[in-house]
Amino acid sequence: MSNKVAKLTLDGSTESIDLPVYSGTIGPDVVDVGGLTAKGLFTYDPGFMSTASCKSDITYIDGDKGVLLHRGYPIEQLAEHSDFLETCFLLLNGELPTAEEKTGFENSIRYHTMVHEQLYQFFKGFPRDAHPMAIMVGVVGALSAFYHDSLDITNAKDRELAAHRLIAKLPTIAAMCYKHAVGQPFMYPRNDFSFAENFLHMMFNTPCEDAKVNPILAKAMDTIFLLHADHEQNASTSTVRLAGSTGANPFACIASGIAALWGPAHGGANEAVLNMLDEIQDESRIEEFIKRAKDKNDPFRLMGFGHRVYKNFDPRAKVMRKICDEVLEDLGVENDPLFRIARRLEKIALEDEYFIERKLYPNVDFYSGIILKAIGIPTSMFTVIFAIGRTPGWISHWKEMISNPYKIGRPRQLYTGHTQRDYPAK
Ligand code: ACO
Repeated sequence: MSNKVAKLTLDGSTESIDLPVYSGTIGPDVVDVGGLTAKGLFTYDPGFMSTASCKSDITYIDGDKGVLLHRGYPIEQLAEHSDFLETCFLLLNGELPTAEEKTGFENSIRYHTMVHEQLYQFFKGFPRDAHPMAIMVGVVGALSAFYHDSLDITNAKDRELAAHRLIAKLPTIAAMCYKHAVGQPFMYPRNDFSFAENFLHMMFNTPCEDAKVNPILAKAMDTIFLLHADHEQNASTSTVRLAGSTGANPFACIASGIAALWGPAHGGANEAVLNMLDEIQDESRIEEFIKRAKDKNDPFRLMGFGHRVYKNFDPRAKVMRKICDEVLEDLGVENDPLFRIARRLEKIALEDEYFIERKLYPNVDFYSGIILKAIGIPTSMFTVIFAIGRTPGWISHWKEMISNPYKIGRPRQLYTGHTQRDYPAK
């Protein structure tokens, strides 16, 4: 598999340990440290900053160059020529669908959008002001209770069925969370609508008013889902893989991914953008907040700026910016004070030395937060939208792992506690 070898020599030892080095199709080489345990050593890498936890064919990111590829296709091209469901098929199956496969996949997703009638009862147990992510974690995990007959993870058909059910039912459950919060009746899905239209229909229509969905907003929604579809081994995807490595069922695994996504350091950033814009309140206070963002003694950061991986630009943010302009113009809200603050902030940050030097560009969350707000989606639902978009990525990684030989994920540790001691005599 590899001719290259890395040699590890410990201080004071005359012997070195050979570690195989593997090359992927692109990206950095990896050093296989698996053999170190037999030599009485573990590696230490909190936060997995330098650790490849798996081999994967799905997504490639080069943060320095602003590259994001799904199965080799650049995200910008997918956003322009593909749509969310086609990208789901690509992520799951490795290739773009033929026309026939595309229709078959779309029909299968349509067919699975309804949830079991008994699931509606679950919502009665949640307070009206429950955070929608709290409901999502519980209800998505509970889906496994309804499909005992098709939870054999060693069976490819069962895996496919679970994948389609999850992609199809997440928007239905998400919209139910919103309807529950506002006290409106749940809307059944519509099979004559596209994926994104159907979601907006279940969110904003009522039995009294079954309005047509605005195509510009539906397109924006579809693109938001598509741009979030996968991002290789991020925290929630790694969580799904780790849960899946125990043989847990796919609904439980995706629920664990939703839980990991909930954190503000992961899926909660676009919600934080809107909270920040609300806090700024008025254009006259922008300078004050920019000053605070630059002040080393102030923990405040400009939300929606900077990225751990993308250090030049976030390719998703470029696409999102264009959609953001279209949505604000279509809704005629460009002059809304909140959106004016966002625009000014973007302009200042793009021209200010502090942000340019540190490569702090507006990220995907900055624009998606603004678009979702303009569409009328409450901020508490933003991470839920992210979860709908990320579902195909989570399942593709789970499926990739389960379909190949894999080991239970079980990291080791650097123990720093007490050595053995005796229980005090009484
Ligand atoms: N506002 C002001 N200053 C910032 C910001 C910001 N948003 N982000 C980074 N900096 C500064 C840091 O203070 C630091 O300055 P210094 O070199 O003078 O000390 C420098 O830029 C580098 O910052 P790091 O924290 O080392 O960058 P890191 O890569 O670790 O952080 C992160 C990336 C967490 C995204 C950060 O930029 C941030 O907190 N941004 C705001 C939150 C946000 O928008 N998160 C969403 C990310 S996108 C996503 O998850 C899909």
